Amino acid sequence: MTKPSSAAAATDTRSQRDPNSRAAGPIVEVVNLEKTYKTARGSLTLFRDLSFQVMTGELVAIMGQSGAGKSTLLHMLGALDAPSAGTVYCASTNVATLTPRQASAFRNREIGYVWQFHYLLPEFTAQENVAMPLLARGEGKREAMDAAAGWLREVGLDDRRDHRPGELSGGEQQRVALARALVNQPRLLLADEPTGDLDESTARQVFDLIQRIHTSHGLTSILVTHNMELAGRCSRVLRLEHGRLADDSAASNVHSNPGPEFGS
Ligand SMILES: Nc1ncnc2c1ncn2[C@@H]1O[C@H](COP(=O)(O)OP(=O)(O)OP(=O)(O)O)[C@@H](O)[C@H]1O
Ligand SMILES: [Mg+2]
Repeated sequence: MTKPSSAAAATDTRSQRDPNSRAAGPIVEVVNLEKTYKTARGSLTLFRDLSFQVMTGELVAIMGQSGAGKSTLLHMLGALDAPSAGTVYCASTNVATLTPRQASAFRNREIGYVWQFHYLLPEFTAQENVAMPLLARGEGKREAMDAAAGWLREVGLDDRRDHRPGELSGGEQQRVALARALVNQPRLLLADEPTGDLDESTARQVFDLIQRIHTSHGLTSILVTHNMELAGRCSRVLRLEHGRLADDSAASNVHSNPGPEFGS
């Protein structure tokens, strides 16, 4: 899966890394990350001096209790939210330096996002939903629809192309959402509880599919999950606990300081 030349030159990139390379090395580098929300009760600090790396090709699970900051962390990796301090390098790009327009182009090009809820557009067919990201970046309708058909075949839904989301099962909806996340051939798949809304057996099937596509397409994938069994099948588990990020695997390269905590 080759990628077109990145337009990231306009942003703060690390020159020693080739943005088109899928060679081993960190694809995500979080350095001294801090996130503080201003709330009516004062400031809420989720992370302080949080640093870790994710290597190209890893399938990483992020676990932790509700409110630990898992979604917030994923949003910052995917340029959907800005850190309060520190740096997030993702796919060779310092995401904090992106303008909103650049961030949008960066997400479209580099990141496939899957959420707990599918967020498919109800009035469009599965194929049209999957084609959307390609149309958004200016591909012709014919090419976009052909690519969408290919991805629906890949997720086992060749015969559901013309179904609207309301005419699909929960597992099928999530498989369409996965196809839509990957149609732009991103390097990084970020998934926030992608099986959280599914029954146990369907969750396992969707996870099997993510794992198969992760391997066959040479992706790097970071999955938030509450499911211990599925996390156990990932190459590494990062656990956010009382604001600390601990690496369950032996070769830990994760460092963090306490959070979340309220300050004045
Ligand atoms: N925009 C915001 N303003 C203030 N506080 C916020 C904001 N967004 C999130 N928070 C707080 O930050 C904390 C972490 O939220 P986050 O959604 O990242 O948790 P999570 O680990 O994903 O939880 P869950 O497992 O329930 O999805 C929560 O306590 C939440 O209330
Ligand atoms: Mg969450």
